[in-house]
Amino acid sequence: MAPLLQVENLSAGYGGVKIVRDVVFNLHENEVLGIVGESGCGKSTMVKAIARLKGMNTEILSGNIRFKGQDLSTLSKEKRRKIMGEDMAIIFQNPEASLNPSRKIGHQFLETMQNHRGAVRWSEMRDNAAEIFNKIGLDEVDRILDAYPFQLSGGMAQRVAVALAMLLKPKLILADEPTSALDTTVQKQVVEEMLALKKSLNTAMIVISHNMGVVGKMADTIAVMYGGRIVEIGCKEQILNAPAHPYTKALLSAVPKLGAGLPVGLKGRPPHFSCIKEGCGFYDRCIYCTEKCASYNNVACEIRKDHWVLCGRKEIYA
Ligand SMILES: Nc1ncnc2c1ncn2[C@@H]1O[C@H](COP(=O)(O)OP(=O)(O)OP(=O)(O)O)[C@@H](O)[C@H]1O
Ligand SMILES: [Mg+2]
Repeated sequence: MAPLLQVENLSAGYGGVKIVRDVVFNLHENEVLGIVGESGCGKSTMVKAIARLKGMNTEILSGNIRFKGQDLSTLSKEKRRKIMGEDMAIIFQNPEASLNPSRKIGHQFLETMQNHRGAVRWSEMRDNAAEIFNKIGLDEVDRILDAYPFQLSGGMAQRVAVALAMLLKPKLILADEPTSALDTTVQKQVVEEMLALKKSLNTAMIVISHNMGVVGKMADTIAVMYGGRIVEIGCKEQILNAPAHPYTKALLSAVPKLGAGLPVGLKGRPPHFSCIKEGCGFYDRCIYCTEKCASYNNVACEIRKDHWVLCGRKEIYA
């Protein structure tokens, strides 16, 4: 089956400055791709380049993004707007970014439906909202639909934002740190709910998270980003249990694990986007680097089936 989303040599950024570099991956129906990497490595920029909503100044500098075979980078704004919400939806870190503070929840649900389905009555919207609320265990449908976002707790508002994103049963959800603003208990609950919704609606997802636990729980495939590039991508088990790229190894060893000794942590800082040189982007911080890494051609190598690594030191992971 053809992939739902095909990202081909995507480079994207702001004001001509390249942030995301030559990113390649496929996402299949129903699949969850988790994206990890240090703050500022370009995770949100990549997702924003896919969504390019109004107000997002992210530019596609080269490459293609095909969704159900259509190239989103050349599609008209109107056609893209039609796809967003209907086929693809986005969930942000804070519910304030997804919900309008001055409109009752019910009106926002109604507007979303009307934007895509024409004249929709309140009762029809209520049925649709109730179906989604029910799947994530939100009762009190009418109380929520009649509330303003500020009348809900942060956790409840984020669950409503998830429900709104899922309202039209999109094929793909882009979730940028969907649980990071929540406390641990609510975070777990929202992760469970998103997984339940995904399962019942067969939604594919791209989930960005700083929390390796969240990615480990949700993702089928994990992509590790560094300096705007995907430096390693593969199935969750491979990435977590047999990481190959020196950056992935360092990132995972920085996560405190029970009985795994002291976290090692990473020294130094990621490179500045304005001065990324040719060669390996992780060169300056890598404990395995040799002189030849400075001229590495950044061509990914498939070390096992569907497990790709961007590192010229094959001898350390082969
Ligand atoms: N709207 C914007 N305009 C200009 N530059 C931006 C914009 N958004 C992000 N950047 C720059 O792009 C780079 C990557 O940022 P991005 O937000 O994609 O990183 P991230 O991996 O999502 O980080 P975090 O984990 O902190 O959310 C940073 O250098 C940032 O300053
Ligand atoms: Mg981000």
